[in-house]
Amino acid sequence: MAGEITRVGVVGLGTMGAGIAQVCAQAGFETVGVEVTDELGAKARERVGYYLGRSVEKERMTGEERDAALARLATTTSRADLAGCDLVIEAIVEDLGAKRELVAELDGILAPDAIVATNTSALSVTEIARASARAERVVGMHFFNPAPVLPLVEVVRTELAAEEPYERAYGFAAALGKEPVRCSDTPGFIVNRILIPLLNDCVRVLDEAGVSPEDLDKAMRFGAGWPIGPCALVDLIGVEIHVHASEALHAALGEPRMAPPERLVRMQAEGKLGRKTGEGFFTYES
Ligand SMILES: NC(=O)c1ccc[n+]([C@@H]2O[C@H](COP(=O)([O-])OP(=O)(O)OC[C@H]3O[C@@H](n4cnc5c(N)ncnc54)[C@H](O)[C@@H]3O)[C@@H](O)[C@H]2O)c1
Repeated sequence: MAGEITRVGVVGLGTMGAGIAQVCAQAGFETVGVEVTDELGAKARERVGYYLGRSVEKERMTGEERDAALARLATTTSRADLAGCDLVIEAIVEDLGAKRELVAELDGILAPDAIVATNTSALSVTEIARASARAERVVGMHFFNPAPVLPLVEVVRTELAAEEPYERAYGFAAALGKEPVRCSDTPGFIVNRILIPLLNDCVRVLDEAGVSPEDLDKAMRFGAGWPIGPCALVDLIGVEIHVHASEALHAALGEPRMAPPERLVRMQAEGKLGRKTGEGFFTYES
């Protein structure tokens, strides 16, 4: 019987990885974060420190708890430092070749009973798993952005996965204080399979029906009970991320609704990516 998860690795400390590493360290796990340069590792650690500091200001945690969480997070540029991790979550670039190369290398670093999880949004977890000689120990753990805030984790089971590592990954997500759900390795998993075509429908209605983004958002908030309007949501996700996810889902399943609406493709070309550029459907103060 494999042991408990105590030490966790996170590879890639960008938007998602830094947030995931924060969640792991906050939940009490010794966490090793791997980046490509020391500068990027230090930047990620700073970001985690900043967000934990905000939680202290909002009295969601004490200064001691923040210091203890930060002390549990180490960063490195050497994958060899992942030796001794019971679970490694990869959150590197969304590139099949890069992820397969990483997963194959981890075979030689991790103990035989360690688990490898990929945070991929749109790639096949099965294709990533096949790069490992221990494909039965590779799962998907799909966190949502921002990882410290959004509770959902889709725990993705491939046909190659064994019961024990899959259930341990599921239990680990719950131990993080998250709300895990079980799903299979199908395009878009659960949320993106539904949300991407739905948001695309919303954007198409703007031009088809001559509705303003303000009124569309108002309609869905006050008529359908959405907590945030669809245009504001696309701005939050990032127009380029949504376009990329739409293209991937469309390539996989072929429904016309899944293809990115022309309006979003145009916004991407104009650099109107949403909150991160200060302008998308709406404008934002930096
Ligand atoms: N951004 C989102 O909303 C979101 C949501 C869920 C899942 N995802 C998935 O999470 C993954 C990461 O996305 P992101 O938005 O955080 O990207 P990002 O570009 O912000 O971060 C990727 C990080 O990985 C690092 N990196 C790249 N190659 C590496 C390697 N070989 N070893 C170590 N570090 C490496 C980069 O330096 C960068 O800091 C992708 O698979 C993406 O599909 C993204």
